[in-house]
Amino acid sequence: MTDDRRDTSASDKSQAMSDLAPRLDELRARIREADRAYYQDDSPTISDAEYDQLMRELREIETAHPDLITPDSPTQRVSGEATTGFSKVRHRVPMLSLANARTPDELRAWEQRAARILPDARFSYVCEPKIDGLSMNLTYERGRLSLGVTRGDGAIGEDVTANVRTIHDIPAELKRGEIDIPEVVEVRGEIFMRRADFEALNDRLAEEARVADTTPRLFANARNGAAGSLRQKDARVTASRPLSFLAYHLGYIEGMEPRTQSELVAWLRAWGFATSPLMRHVTELAEAQAYADEYASRRFTVDYDIDGVVMKIDDRWQQQELGYVARDPRWAIAYKFAPAEGNTRLLDIVVTVGRTGALTPNARLEPLKLGGVTISNATLHNADEIARKDLRIGDVVVVQRHGDVIPGITKAVVELRDGSERVWEFPTVCPVCGSPVTRDEGDAVAYCPNSECAAQQVERLIHFSNVMDIRGLGTAVAERMVQQGLVHDVADVFHLTEEDVLTLPGFKKKSADNLLRAIHTSRAQPFSRVLYALGIRYVGAKAAEIIAEGMLSMDALLAADEATISALPGIGPTIAKSLVAWTRLPQTHEFVAKLRDARLQLVAQEGPAPAGDRPFAGETFLLTGSLERLTRGQAEQAIQSLGGKIASGVTKTLSHLVVGGSPGSKLAKAEKLGVPIHDEAWLVATLAAHDALPGERKRLD
Ligand code: IVH
Repeated sequence: MTDDRRDTSASDKSQAMSDLAPRLDELRARIREADRAYYQDDSPTISDAEYDQLMRELREIETAHPDLITPDSPTQRVSGEATTGFSKVRHRVPMLSLANARTPDELRAWEQRAARILPDARFSYVCEPKIDGLSMNLTYERGRLSLGVTRGDGAIGEDVTANVRTIHDIPAELKRGEIDIPEVVEVRGEIFMRRADFEALNDRLAEEARVADTTPRLFANARNGAAGSLRQKDARVTASRPLSFLAYHLGYIEGMEPRTQSELVAWLRAWGFATSPLMRHVTELAEAQAYADEYASRRFTVDYDIDGVVMKIDDRWQQQELGYVARDPRWAIAYKFAPAEGNTRLLDIVVTVGRTGALTPNARLEPLKLGGVTISNATLHNADEIARKDLRIGDVVVVQRHGDVIPGITKAVVELRDGSERVWEFPTVCPVCGSPVTRDEGDAVAYCPNSECAAQQVERLIHFSNVMDIRGLGTAVAERMVQQGLVHDVADVFHLTEEDVLTLPGFKKKSADNLLRAIHTSRAQPFSRVLYALGIRYVGAKAAEIIAEGMLSMDALLAADEATISALPGIGPTIAKSLVAWTRLPQTHEFVAKLRDARLQLVAQEGPAPAGDRPFAGETFLLTGSLERLTRGQAEQAIQSLGGKIASGVTKTLSHLVVGGSPGSKLAKAEKLGVPIHDEAWLVATLAAHDALPGERKRLD
């Protein structure tokens, strides 16, 4: 390169910098601000779409000008991780990484290297799955947890002690007994989220956002869920998140040394840690290979994400002799699975209609085997996503699978296009009933507005049956009922006769009777369930409970205006609007009359459970300060389960103030007003006396 050209490119760069720097700064600042509001204050300030737009613009600029990327740019970190606020701690013993092998040859080469260094040694191996989580270093001094630090760059990590203390799998104190407790010991392992927990968390976040009328910001995968939940400023948020921990290693240890990896694991167990129940000790490399092959094919039968298996030479003396290359120990290796990702052809995009009329595009794929299952469908979420990824019918696409979550399409392989691909247009009419599709401004989702649409009828019926717990009324039965014209709306279900049911394929007298009995029994479901079961847009289970409790009856709800409904605690304008739109539909009154005819509960039962189960009925509670034994969520839920209400502030009429550590001004105010004041021990004892003390979280391993 001549000096001339270097000059030009340098000046190009500075030109780009000065043009783009203000915009980059602004984008980064706004994203950070949104992250802070979302992750730390738990109250999003911008919508998901706006957030995505900011991120997209930032990424576009950075892709075009990679030299402008800064290490602290929001694009450079795992989503879900906040960046600020934790103090840095240097690890006493560095946290290493692991070299990878991907083929049997590479695995043999690993063993041969070890054999060259220790020619006379015989090796045996401890194998266990490599968990796709975050590694954690826990320091115990005289048996008590004193520090929890993330891996960071291996040398320096972040102090998240307050947060790890809330994780049930992490003991506050080492168990005393068979194995001595060293003065100081560092226990290492992985913090992660089980897939079912991750999905439940996302469901909960979506539901909370719906009730609060904000846009949910969901985690993309379980690892992000674990990272985002661990790196919280408020440990109570971490406490409410379902995190798991498995221990697998020691860092620093004073005064004692296990002789083998197996012994090390036995010590961890004796001290009260969960270790991998899938661990296997093998004496031949071929068995280690077989273990890897076994878990590669069973990968999705493990209930958390794993991306390989770790093999460790068992003998710790051999480990020490083998030592390290750079940051990787020679005595351990990560045998990585082929990614659960593959290429296939996008054959078509088919739109399905949900119970609220929401139209969801689904990809039909040329069948592809991924991680032991054949995939021929993937969800595409909405039209924007298809446009953003520029997916065209006939494209070769990259498909990714995460556990049992429906697979997603990562991108189209643009280089493989030959011009025959077709741009897909979102339908302008409902594919089932032909009604013109509607889409509100700012909403990514398009709807079929026709509530009589057969697809909506089926989906509503399935939802109704699930919520009202009608056994025997599943997808196939619901489809046939609608198809045969037996059921148009959910109220029709209650007028079905045995004769009707016997016309459905597969039903005999006994199964028909069972179904009719299940339908009859569902009449006892409370008003809040009925309201949820109707499948009104945005009215989830929790919102339905609040509305039922606040409005008390369907008649009151029909008469209520938007302001009345959105005045209910936790009900925002979106839900209120949607409900009022529903109550104002001409057919709604007729439909409600049918529900009444069907003898469903359209009035809230005051105190549905017998008084004996609701000893706190009529009493109000307020919690202040930090609790130790219970999370705030647990305490509030337990109080409510006994019929108590949670107050929003201290007033004369407050029945109980429960005070934890470092209480605020509420305590003084309660004292002044003469409100009864209790400590956490009182609450714990009272809940226990009514059998309502939240149990220890169960360990699944
Ligand atoms: S043993 C000397 N065992 O993998 C290293 N690591 O790529 C000792 N990991 O940062 C680590 N599951 O977070 C070990 N069963 C397991 C593991 C595991 C996940 C992670 C660990 C480490 C990374 C190395």
